[in-house]
Amino acid sequence: MAKSPDLSIDLAGIRLRSPVVTASGCFASGKEASEFVDLKKIGAVVVKSMTMEPWPGKPTPRMAETPSGMLNAIGLQNYGVEHFLTVDLPWLNRVGVPVIASIAGNTVQEYIYVAEMLRGAPGVVAVEVNISCPNLEDRNNMFAHDAKATSSVIAAVRRALEVPLFAKLSPNVTSLPEIAGAALDNGAQGISLINTVMGMAIDIQTGQPKLAGVVGGLSGPAIRPIAVRSVFDVFRAFPHVPIIGMGGIMNSNDALEFILAGATAVAIGTANFIDPNTTTKVNDGILQYMKEKGVNNLASMRGRVKVEG
Ligand SMILES: Cc1cc2nc3c(=O)[nH]c(=O)nc-3n(C[C@H](O)[C@H](O)[C@H](O)COP(=O)(O)O)c2cc1C
Repeated sequence: MAKSPDLSIDLAGIRLRSPVVTASGCFASGKEASEFVDLKKIGAVVVKSMTMEPWPGKPTPRMAETPSGMLNAIGLQNYGVEHFLTVDLPWLNRVGVPVIASIAGNTVQEYIYVAEMLRGAPGVVAVEVNISCPNLEDRNNMFAHDAKATSSVIAAVRRALEVPLFAKLSPNVTSLPEIAGAALDNGAQGISLINTVMGMAIDIQTGQPKLAGVVGGLSGPAIRPIAVRSVFDVFRAFPHVPIIGMGGIMNSNDALEFILAGATAVAIGTANFIDPNTTTKVNDGILQYMKEKGVNNLASMRGRVKVEG
């Protein structure tokens, strides 16, 4: 019988059994979804971004449905890093799924605090630095919108941690390769693309924004072409750097687009709210595609979009 294709990947030196991971904020710590999803089938759980202290998040309404997507302004509600270490992480370790911890903050010092707390945490194979947060020390400009702010956060987190770092970037910038370059120059081993796209929706009956936070992040299929283009741009600029690609992946065909554009791994976000089992279905669909195409190794497909020049 023919050998089954190898779905495992090397992500900045970490071996994952599948290229499919969860997107931060769309799967919590995995506990809620574990009733429906075989977590052993996915590459890793990327947990909700955690901060130094618990954050209550923004007032409601925090979500609004939009054509082919949704807007959210959750405001990074989370229980804080200590809760992660004492409650979520032991549970994830018992399940035996690799964990990518996502960290966030409003100042560089806050990122350092969370990073130091995570040092040596069992089962945390990598840290994703969510730099799509307002920088309180710079007029609330998002860290990821500025190469200098990106450099300072990543350099600080790098000093605090030994595991591979992925900088999670915002697509709302003129040049993603410039911001990615700043992250890589300062110690990130990989790039996660993309966080949500800034958007707004208005209820014309009340005249009010649909989100209490006024503006929010657009996710889902509406942003997929932006995400695929973002992965393509960063892969072209840094072909040897691992990329976790995400944005509107609903099925394995969507995921394959990201891999052909240059993603090493793919993350599933909004689709989990429709079907919490999307990750494993995407995993199985990629395997099926590889069988049909006679591809044995996923890495050989990475970035193979046929573009002249
Ligand atoms: C409800 C919700 C909460 C999110 N929370 C986080 C978060 O805590 N940290 C983060 O880095 N990204 C967060 N994201 C962004 C997702 O991880 C992902 O980058 C984005 O939604 C694009 O992927 P998707 O279209 O598959 O959802 C969140 C997205 C949604 C929809």
